[in-house]
Amino acid sequence: MTKILSIQNKIKAFDKKIQVAGDKSLSIRWVLLASQALGKSKAFNLLMSEDVIAAINAMKQLGINIKFNKDYCQIQGNGLNGFKYEKNLSIDCKNSGTLGRLILGLLIKSPHKIKIIGDKSLSKRDFSRVTLPLERFGAKFFYKVKNKLPLTILGSESIKSIKYLESKGSAQCKSSIMLAALNASGTTFIKAKKSRNHSELLFKYLKIPIKIKKTKKFDFISVKKPKKIDAFNYKIPGDISSSSFFIVLTILANNSKLLIKNINVNPSRTGAIRILKKMGAKISFSNHKNYRGEKICDILVKGSKNLKSINCPTELNSSAIDEFLIIFLAAAKAKGISYFKDISELNQKESPRLNWGSKILNMMGIKTLLTKNSIKIYGQPNLKIIKIIIIKNYLKDHRIFMMSVIAALPFGGKWKIHNPESIKTSFPSFLRIIKELGGKVN
Ligand code: S3P
Repeated sequence: MTKILSIQNKIKAFDKKIQVAGDKSLSIRWVLLASQALGKSKAFNLLMSEDVIAAINAMKQLGINIKFNKDYCQIQGNGLNGFKYEKNLSIDCKNSGTLGRLILGLLIKSPHKIKIIGDKSLSKRDFSRVTLPLERFGAKFFYKVKNKLPLTILGSESIKSIKYLESKGSAQCKSSIMLAALNASGTTFIKAKKSRNHSELLFKYLKIPIKIKKTKKFDFISVKKPKKIDAFNYKIPGDISSSSFFIVLTILANNSKLLIKNINVNPSRTGAIRILKKMGAKISFSNHKNYRGEKICDILVKGSKNLKSINCPTELNSSAIDEFLIIFLAAAKAKGISYFKDISELNQKESPRLNWGSKILNMMGIKTLLTKNSIKIYGQPNLKIIKIIIIKNYLKDHRIFMMSVIAALPFGGKWKIHNPESIKTSFPSFLRIIKELGGKVN
């Protein structure tokens, strides 16, 4: 039977301190890179969500020993390409685009065919964006339905480096190629449109031969096969993408105040903060630390009564890519018409998020003007919802779920949100924190 989350009451003003779960991008990257290191690596505060568990299970299927202790996860890597390749392997990447794309880079030498499968949402997403460049390294790919999962990869003994232009601003594509480069002869050159740079920072920290030249729009990256990767421990900081839902909730819940501890504010991830600040939000960072190239701090946010609309600069798009849904909610309350353009990539996510974002705003009584790659949002500073809103059939996209919960709490209305289990992919403790802040959800 379908589970339904019901929200009937507005949230009262709160003044709280919270901690959010570990960064998803870093958690998955740690699992994949620790599997390639020689010896025992430990991760503290690893995100225990379904996406990360799928990565752990995939590594186990490939012969990597993984153990859990009370405080950490330990991976015993067998070194570069130290996988034990069995015949007829089928790896389930569940909902995770990051795992699905990145793992293909690591499997580039597989002597047997490996099948990659995913859930309904992942099986609708385009995989040619990684299999086309990976084919040029020497691997072979077989699809049943063009460019969609399930797919089969057959690696090759002789993997040769490539030159690759990443033009979508996709960190998943960039990272998949960087991982393939770990096993390629020669130097792999990547010209990549700006996107999150966790893989680059980890490669540098692990002393993998990498060079990066940055220009305004592109990063020029070259990677060479390392002799080995040493085992490494990592303390995963809190996830800015998970935090952003609480940041916007605080902004929208008048007179509220929230301190979020220990968050990764890597500039390639903080576009939403910059956008919200331009809209008049009161957000400040304190307690800055540098951890292996990542920037960590505490975030303080206060409720804002007077939000302004924004004509969002496109150069902020890539660093806000996972946060647009929640930014749209701030725009719903802002005075004036907000405009977000060049965001067609949003429709390539776990669900067609641009379309869904617009649809939910319309259900809330907010007028939008939607095109294939842009949206205009006609804000209503005094928005109060009194009707029943039902959110269903959204491909269990965790961020659609969170957007709906956050919309219900300050704006009111009677919300019925189907499939609350969708949150398990990225943020299993989301509803617990909502309750800590005083949200009545059941
Ligand atoms: C991610 C990259 C982004 C992002 C996703 C996580 C990553 O996807 O939307 O949630 O960890 O590399 P794209 O690379 O497809 O933009």
